[in-house]
Order: sequence, then C-alpha cells, then structure tokens
Amino acid sequence: MVLFTGYMKIFAVIAVVSSLQALADTDFQWNKLEASDKLVWTPCYSGLQCSLLQVPLDYSSASAGTASIAIARYPANCTKSAYRGPILLNDGGPGGSGVDYVVEVGASIATIIGEQFDIVGFDPRGVSYSTPTVSFFRTAAERALWIPPTSDIVFPALNQTADAVAQQWARAQILGQLAVSRNDGNYIQHITTDNTARDMLRITQAFGFEKVQYWGVSYGSVLGSTFAAMFPDKVGRIVVDGVMPMDTWRPTPTKPYKRSSMAARRRDRRPVHLAPPSSIEVAANLDALFAAIEIQPVPVITPVSYGVVDYTFLRNSVFHALYSPYDSFVALAQGLADLAKGNATTLYTAEEVPPFECNCNSTTPFHENGYEALVAISCGDMAVESDTVSQLQAYYASIQAISSIADMYGNWRVVCSGWKLHREDSFKGITFTPFLASCKLTHLLGPFGAPNTSFPLLVVGNTADPVTPIAGAKSTVDAFPGSVLLTIDAPGHTSLGAPSTCFYGYLRQYFQNGTLPPQSTICQPDGVLFPPPANGTTEDVAPRGLNAWEPELIEGSRTLRKAVRRSMARRLNHAV
Ligand SMILES: *[C@@H]1O[C@H](CO)[C@@H](O)[C@H](O)[C@H]1NC(C)=O
Ligand SMILES: *[C@@H]1O[C@H](CO)[C@@H](O)[C@H](O)[C@H]1NC(C)=O
Ligand SMILES: *[C@@H]1O[C@H](CO)[C@@H](O)[C@H](O)[C@H]1NC(C)=O
Ligand SMILES: *[C@@H]1O[C@H](CO)[C@@H](O)[C@H](O)[C@H]1NC(C)=O
Ligand SMILES: *[C@@H]1O[C@H](CO)[C@@H](O)[C@H](O)[C@H]1NC(C)=O
Ligand SMILES: *[C@@H]1O[C@H](CO)[C@@H](O)[C@H](O)[C@H]1NC(C)=O
Ligand SMILES: *[C@@H]1O[C@H](CO)[C@@H](O)[C@H](O)[C@H]1NC(C)=O
Repeated sequence: MVLFTGYMKIFAVIAVVSSLQALADTDFQWNKLEASDKLVWTPCYSGLQCSLLQVPLDYSSASAGTASIAIARYPANCTKSAYRGPILLNDGGPGGSGVDYVVEVGASIATIIGEQFDIVGFDPRGVSYSTPTVSFFRTAAERALWIPPTSDIVFPALNQTADAVAQQWARAQILGQLAVSRNDGNYIQHITTDNTARDMLRITQAFGFEKVQYWGVSYGSVLGSTFAAMFPDKVGRIVVDGVMPMDTWRPTPTKPYKRSSMAARRRDRRPVHLAPPSSIEVAANLDALFAAIEIQPVPVITPVSYGVVDYTFLRNSVFHALYSPYDSFVALAQGLADLAKGNATTLYTAEEVPPFECNCNSTTPFHENGYEALVAISCGDMAVESDTVSQLQAYYASIQAISSIADMYGNWRVVCSGWKLHREDSFKGITFTPFLASCKLTHLLGPFGAPNTSFPLLVVGNTADPVTPIAGAKSTVDAFPGSVLLTIDAPGHTSLGAPSTCFYGYLRQYFQNGTLPPQSTICQPDGVLFPPPANGTTEDVAPRGLNAWEPELIEGSRTLRKAVRRSMARRLNHAV
C-alpha cells in the first residue's frame, strides 16, 4: 500500500529497458502452463522455474471451483541433503506480483540468505498471472480512462478541493458497483488475505514441507501475521518487515486507526533528511512551496508527455520519495529547489509515465491488475463499511490532525466505502487476550496474534517509515509472544527502502540456523541520504556488523538494491 507500493514512484534515473528486455526475451507464457495440484516446473525468465498450482477458490466449498496460483522460483543450488525448502516472498501492495518481484530480486536474496533455499515469488490469488485475475473493466482503454497511469486522480490530496472526499466517495460507489456487476464466476469475494495465507500453506506442502518459511514486506506483513495467527503451528520462519498493525489493517467504524499508527507524522517534514541549512528553514520552504502551488499550479510539457504539477502532485512526490530516501532524496531536493525557482519539469519527469497506448495486438492475457487487486484485497479484508460522505469527512479531519500524510489512509478508507463483496466466514482473528474476551469485545475483529507459534517471528521496522510506523512492529511483537523486534534506524519504507547489511546478516542467521537477533536489536542503514557531491553516489555500501558472511552480504546487498529499483521502475512504467 500504499502499502500501495504498486503506485510507488521513485526519484531515480533508472534504466528500465534492460529488465523489460529480459522479460520479453523469453518464449515462456503463463497461459501455456497447465494448472495442477502438484508443482510442475517449466523454465522461465532466464534461470527461473515457473509453475501453476491449483488451489480451492473457496476452502470451505469444493463446488466453488479452483484458482491457479502463478509461482516462480529462483532455484536452490546445493546438494539434496543440504536443501532447506522454499522461502516465500511478498513485496506488498496488496496486489503486487510476486512473480515479477522474484524475477528481479531472486538471485540477490539467494546470495544474502543462502543457496540452500528455493527463493519463491507467487502472485497472490487474483493478482497478475494467477487466475481468476481480478478485473472490473472490460478493456484496457476503459481501465485507463477510470484509472489513469498517474496516481493523482486515484490518490488525490483529500483537501485539494472542498469536495475531494465527496468526489472520491462517489467514485468508490461506482467501483464497488462495477465489482459486483462484473464478478463473473463469483470469485472476487474469495480474493482475500486469509485465503492467500491458506494458499501459502498449500504451496509449501506442494514443495514437500510442512512449515512455512516467509519474508513479507509492507502489506506482506499483513499476510505474514495473518498466516501466523491462522496457522501458529505451521510457522517455520516468518519475517514481517515494514509492519502494519492488524487493527489498522482491518479497521471497524467503532475502532478507528490508532493514533500510534500515525506516529511517523511529520517525519515527512522532518527536515534533517533534507539537509542544511536548518530543519526549521527547510520545513518553512516546503510549506511555502505547498502554499504557492495551491494558488498556482505549473503546467509542464516534455517530449514524452504533459501534465500539471499541482498541490496533489507535489504532495504525492514528497510522499513517494519518503519510501526510499536513500535513492530519492538527492533528486527530490533538486526537484524542490527547481520548483522554488518556477521550474516544475524536474519534479514532473521524476514521476512521468508514458501516456496510455492500447496494445491491441497483445497476445499476453490481461495481468497488470495492481489497482483492482489492491482494492479487492484490502476492501474484502475490511469489516463491512458503509461510510457516508460526512462520516468520511469527519474521519479525514480526525486523521489529518494526526498526520500530514493522512490522505493515504484517508483514500484507502474512502475507496472501501463502496465495496460490497464480503465473505461471512473470513478469518476474523483469534482473541486470545483474556481481558478482551472478558469484556465481550470479541465481536471486534482481531486482535491478530497467537500465543504460541511453532517458531518465533522476526519483526522488522524502520524508525521513520512513512507508511508503516514502528508502532506496528511493536504491537505485532506483543501479539506474537516470543517474536523478536529488529529496528533499522533509518527513514524509508521497509528494509527494502533502507538497505542494511547488518539486517541481512541477522536475516541469514534466522533462516539458516534459526538464530534470532537479541530482542530490540538496532541496525544502521548502509547508505547516506546526502553524500558529499564529490563522491556523487549513494550506492556505496558502508556495511556494519560484519561477520563471516561479509562477502555474500555485501554482494547481495549491492545487487538487491539495484533489483529493488528495477522492480519499482517496472511497476512505474506499467502502473495500472
Ligand atoms: C551453483 O553452485 C556451484 C558450486 O558452488 C557454482 O559453481 C555455480 O555457479 C552455482 N550456480 C548458480 C546458478 O549460481
Ligand atoms: C527546467 O529544468 C530542466 C531539468 O529538469 C531543464 O532541462 C530545463 O532547461 C529547465 N527549464 C528552465 C526554463 O530553466
Ligand atoms: C498490430 O498488427 C498489425 C497487423 O499485423 C500491424 O500492422 C501493427 O503494426 C501492429 N501494431 C502494433 C502496435 O504492434
Ligand atoms: C491539507 O492537509 C495538509 C495535511 O494535513 C495540511 O498541511 C494543509 O494545510 C491542508 N491544506 C489545506 C488547503 O487545507
Ligand atoms: C505451545 O507450544 C508448546 C510447544 O510446542 C505446546 O506443547 C503447547 O501445546 C502449545 N500451546 C498452545 C496453547 O498451543
Ligand atoms: C549456522 O551454524 C553453523 C554451526 O554452528 C555455523 O557454522 C554457521 O556459520 C551458521 N550460519 C549462520 C548463517 O549463522
Ligand atoms: C568519498 O570519497 C573519499 C575519497 O575517495 C573517501 O575517502 C570517502 O570515504 C568517500 N565518502 C563516502 C561517503 O563514500
């Protein structure tokens, strides 16, 4: 999300061409695979192997039919006796393609964690190459007209205009209706996190293992926590990283987002990240830019496209840069400085996406459904909501008082106000806290947790994560007694946004030997936000916490950082 990383744009000049080429080079096509309840591997994506696993669409009713889960693995490279099974990945969204993710990051993660594991990406049910693929639109053109390739119509600043909340509410009603009327095959209500957790167990069992090994970032933390709460005795190794507190993920009207979950508020304004002169001055400069652009947006025309840099655009630019500050703050600072001089081109091009073109000859089945999957999963997971415009306005006002980036959560709640497809029997969490049970508060969703998982979770949070504040990691540690908190002392969203060789060392030990870091371990990031201009790069790894696996960790860290950037760039170009 936002966790919506599907919409994440990054400030970096990135060569996307090579990675796109690599994907295009292969003759492999998902629609030529036959789904099976066993894993049958076909070579794909230069060096990876792919399989379509059949699972029940509805785990409580075989008659509902099946879903197919698209799975890709970066295969283990070791002797049979050394083999340690699959590690499943999820890189968030919800709605992100785990197949695309492992294509980019598989080799780097194998370098970091060890070659005894299959590094496995899967498209969660409903997503991308998994079928049925969630879709509310009949054609690519219809989709592009409702969800343009830039994020600003879909995620506007909710106070850009007086009626922004009301407009978004009205759009949400339409989207909710489309989902109902185009739910051919009656499948959308089954595209939920609890079912994907069940699928993870099926995938692991199909590999011949009983306990799940998993590393999920961002929304992937919701999936990991849900799995651990549903199947506490099937926890092999679970890393949740960039952690959403579960009561925030499934808010109910009586239980709004917690203040603490907005603890990163004003971090985006915390100008230490934006370098000298003084933090107060930088904050004032930024406020002045926001005030100016609200009065006068700036039109931009480039050789590729054209658009308006307005208040929403600026808000989203700053917010997106907070995801991966080590790769984006230098460019953001330049963009803001140029804007202050009246030139919006730098900011605009950093988020530029090519205009929509209908690829009418494409033989590839529709799969770029990031937004539709995001809506289906996050709204399907939520308690039934029927917020009115005035309730949403009151809600937005309440969170705005807490966070200057409240729009993100606000938009998310608004979009679900039109959602109608809920399953009665979705997993509602296990209330194990005797206090809550005694208060008869068990009708509330959650809390998500388990008194006793078969292996402790490794919970990872950054000190200044703009999307998943550290409070989420802390409450998750409380919800899973025995689990351990590791903090990366850095801004950025998840460990992917704040690369840390120190963390990778602990990650490797956790997967390989089941060794947990000491409780409340703090790791430093490798990068610097504003390197001296002479060095001109933020790429240099300055590893800390060195150990015997130093060469692998440094190499893996270096390539993973590039891979994450490519992965984000691909999403950017294919956004929606
Ligand atoms: C697999 O391991 C062998 C021996 O360590 C190595 O020579 C080879 O390059 C590895 N293959 C891959 C694809 O990493
Ligand atoms: C605005 O900035 C861009 C670089 O992002 C530069 O190419 C262009 O010349 C600038 N325009 C003006 C009018 O300074
Ligand atoms: C689509 O196919 C037609 C006929 O084969 C061809 O003329 C046209 O250039 C193709 N368009 C694209 C965008 O590939
Ligand atoms: C919009 O909300 C932001 C964040 O809460 C606030 O800083 C800004 O002043 C608001 N703008 C307007 C026009 O109300
Ligand atoms: C907790 O785990 C222990 C050891 O695995 C087991 O004996 C016990 O039954 C578990 N308790 C619960 C409540 O699951
Ligand atoms: C795992 O434990 C073995 C034996 O103690 C040790 O040799 C190895 O280096 C450890 N590996 C990791 C990654 O901790
Ligand atoms: C920048 O370069 C100098 C000279 O090569 C080097 O001593 C210094 O450590 C570098 N700084 C960083 C942050 O990489």
